[in-house]
Amino acid sequence: MGRCYLRELLQNEAFEVVYICDVDAACREVARRQAPQAQILSDFRPAFDDERIRAVVLCTTADARLQQIREAVAAGKHIIAEKPIADTLEHEWEAVRLAEEAPVMSTTNMYLQNAWYHTVMRDAAYSGELGELAIMRICHMTPGLAPGEGHESEGPSFHDCGMHYVNLARWFARSEFKTWHAQGMRMWDWKDPWWLQAHGTFENGIVYDITQGFVYGQLSKDQTHNSYVELIGTKGFCRMTHDFKTAVVDIHGVTETLHIERPFGGKNIDRLIAEMADSIATGRRNEQMPTFRESAIASEYAWRMLEDARRNDLPSIGTHDELEAIWEHRRNLKDGYGLLPRLNKNV
Ligand SMILES: NC(=O)c1ccc[n+]([C@@H]2O[C@H](COP(=O)([O-])OP(=O)(O)OC[C@H]3O[C@@H](n4cnc5c(N)ncnc54)[C@H](O)[C@@H]3O)[C@@H](O)[C@H]2O)c1
Repeated sequence: MGRCYLRELLQNEAFEVVYICDVDAACREVARRQAPQAQILSDFRPAFDDERIRAVVLCTTADARLQQIREAVAAGKHIIAEKPIADTLEHEWEAVRLAEEAPVMSTTNMYLQNAWYHTVMRDAAYSGELGELAIMRICHMTPGLAPGEGHESEGPSFHDCGMHYVNLARWFARSEFKTWHAQGMRMWDWKDPWWLQAHGTFENGIVYDITQGFVYGQLSKDQTHNSYVELIGTKGFCRMTHDFKTAVVDIHGVTETLHIERPFGGKNIDRLIAEMADSIATGRRNEQMPTFRESAIASEYAWRMLEDARRNDLPSIGTHDELEAIWEHRRNLKDGYGLLPRLNKNV
C-alpha cells in the first residue's frame, strides 16, 4: 500500500514527498528508486520532528499504527491511516479518541465509500427512485490473500478485508447494526474461517447480508472473482458488479432505467489524498473523507460477526495439503489476486 500511496502522491501537485520510512531494507531500496528526491528513513521520527511536514500517511501493518498515530498527533501532523487504524479494538478506540480530540485532520482508507459506483447507488437509494431502501446484499469472493499470508495482525479475511463491506453496509443503511447472525467455513483445516456470511438488521429495519471469502478458486486454472452489491427498495433496485477494471451500475428506478459503465478506480487513493489536500488547504475537514470512528465501528462489528460464526458450528472442509499447494501456487503466480509484492521487481 505504501507504494500505491507514493505513486499517487507523486502525481498530485498539492503534495511533495519529503520522507519515506520502512524498517525493511529491500523496501527502502524500492522507495529510493521510486522517489529519488525523498529522504529514505528506517525510523519515522525525523519526519515527525520536521516542522515542514504537514501530513503523514501511515501504511505499515496495523501493529505499528497506534504508536505512530500517538506521535503524529503529538507532532500536530494531519493523518491518512490505513485500515484497521490499530491492531486491537482497544487500540482502535484509543486512536479514535486521540484523533477526535486533536487539532489535526485524520482519515482512513475505507475506500469503498469513496468509490463512484457506491456513491451513485447511495444517491439512487435515497432519491425515491427505489422507494424505501429495504434489503442490501453484498458479496466479495476472490482467490485473494491465503490463510497464513501477509496481514496476520489484522485477523481472518472477514476482518482484514471484510471490514470494508461491514462499513459499506452501515454507510448505505445510514443506521447502526442491530442484529447479526454469521455462518463461517474453515477451509483447508485452517484455524480461522476464510469464508463468512453474515446477515441481520439495522436499527432502522433495513436487512443485510454480507458474504466475503478469499476461497474462490484458489487453485483454478483461470482465476476469477464474484463481487456485487444490490440495494433493493420497496419499488425499484440497483446493483453493481465489476471486473477490477470496469464497474457497472444498473439502476431500475420508478422513472428511469440506467446502465452506467466507468473505470473501476482501484482503491481511490487519488481521491482520498485529494480530499486531504483540500481539507488542509481550506482548514475545513472534507466530509467525504472516511473517519477513524467509521473504521473502528466496522472493525468491531467484523470481529463480532466472526465471534458469532465460531458459535455456529464452523465446519472445516479441505486439507492442509491443499493449503500448501495454494501457497506454492501463489508464490509462482505472476498475475493474481492480492499477491504479496516481489521486492526484486521494480514495482
Ligand atoms: N484499504 C485497503 O483496501 C487495503 C488494502 C491492502 C492493505 N491494506 C492495509 O494496509 C496496511 C499495509 O498493507 P500491505 O499489504 O501494504 O502490507 P505489507 O506487509 O506489504 O507492507 C507493510 C510495510 O510496512 C513496513 N513496516 C512494518 N512495520 C514498520 C514500522 N514500524 N515502521 C516502518 N515500516 C514498517 C514493512 O516493512 C512493509 O514494507 C495493512 O494495514 C493492510 O490491512 C488496506
